[in-house]
Amino acid sequence: MAATRSLQRCRHLLCRPSFSLLRPSSSSFRFFSDAIAPHSTPPPLPTSPPIPSPESNSGNGGCSTIRSSLNEAEVAKFAAIAETWWDFEGPFKPLHQMNPTRISFIRSALCRHFRKDPFCARPFEGLKVIDVGCGGGILAEPLARMGASVTGIDAVDKNINIAGIHAESDPLTSSIEYRCTTAEQLVKENKKFDAVIALEVIEHVADPSEFCKSLAALTVPNGATVISTVSRTLRAFATAIVAAEYLLRWLPKGTHDWSSFLTAEELVLILQRTSISVKEMAGLSYNPLTGEWSLSDDLGVNFIAYGAKEGDVQ
Ligand SMILES: C[S@@+](CC[C@H](N)C(=O)[O-])C[C@H]1O[C@@H](n2cnc3c(N)ncnc32)[C@H](O)[C@@H]1O
Repeated sequence: MAATRSLQRCRHLLCRPSFSLLRPSSSSFRFFSDAIAPHSTPPPLPTSPPIPSPESNSGNGGCSTIRSSLNEAEVAKFAAIAETWWDFEGPFKPLHQMNPTRISFIRSALCRHFRKDPFCARPFEGLKVIDVGCGGGILAEPLARMGASVTGIDAVDKNINIAGIHAESDPLTSSIEYRCTTAEQLVKENKKFDAVIALEVIEHVADPSEFCKSLAALTVPNGATVISTVSRTLRAFATAIVAAEYLLRWLPKGTHDWSSFLTAEELVLILQRTSISVKEMAGLSYNPLTGEWSLSDDLGVNFIAYGAKEGDVQ
């Protein structure tokens, strides 16, 4: 049943599957390990968004075609455990544990993209960053400490309240602007950001393609988009669902629906259609012996992708 739904979903997502992406060529994305050497030419620096005019708002037609990303059942699951965001032993323990690893990927990808010094204390100074589906703010806070001007949005009101209260306790994070809203609502408001980040959210939204359209619309031309998620593989089923939810009980049962997962190749294709070209991907790999997460080339369970938004067509 789940497999049939999953197949239907794939057909919907990928009208013309491209199996060449299973082993990407040098013209598509590169793996994390290829990206460490400083040999690449960074993309052009982002351009400021045009000042929106009533004509451009009503004329492009894009906003009105973006449907809601909300999946009410998923949102209810997160509302039920909102109080536990900052409990390091609670349901969000895996996110807390993988946080340093995903932050190191984001730091290195965004510094390369925006030509920032990754070794300075506040490399994201001057960047406008949005954390879409920010939960209790466990990523938004480190982004603010790295100097970014951060907006955090989430569909769950309680998450936003908890994130706001927590951020208040540190002057470096108290400037974070939290809002209970959706990406598509901000698209309607013509908001733009240098970097748009959505970690572990796409597997919970109603329509991943529409959600990615919104993320792309929020990204300035030549800006950056970062997404992390769980791959739709049997290994991910065994680890992210059977082990994490049923054996180790890290997460409440039913947190994840395997058929909602996307493979790395599917995510690349979906983003390509929204004018985001994926530049780099890494696996987020868990070592059960040490309890530590690390970046790897294994995209088969948890992975993170960074892409660049196309510049304006002249
Ligand atoms: C697994 S949590 C990830 C939280 C955070 N991004 C992180 O990785 O630490 C997913 C979050 O996405 C939020 N969410 C789910 N659907 C959403 C949507 N359509 N728009 C905005 N937020 C959404 C949930 O309320 C939840 O806080």
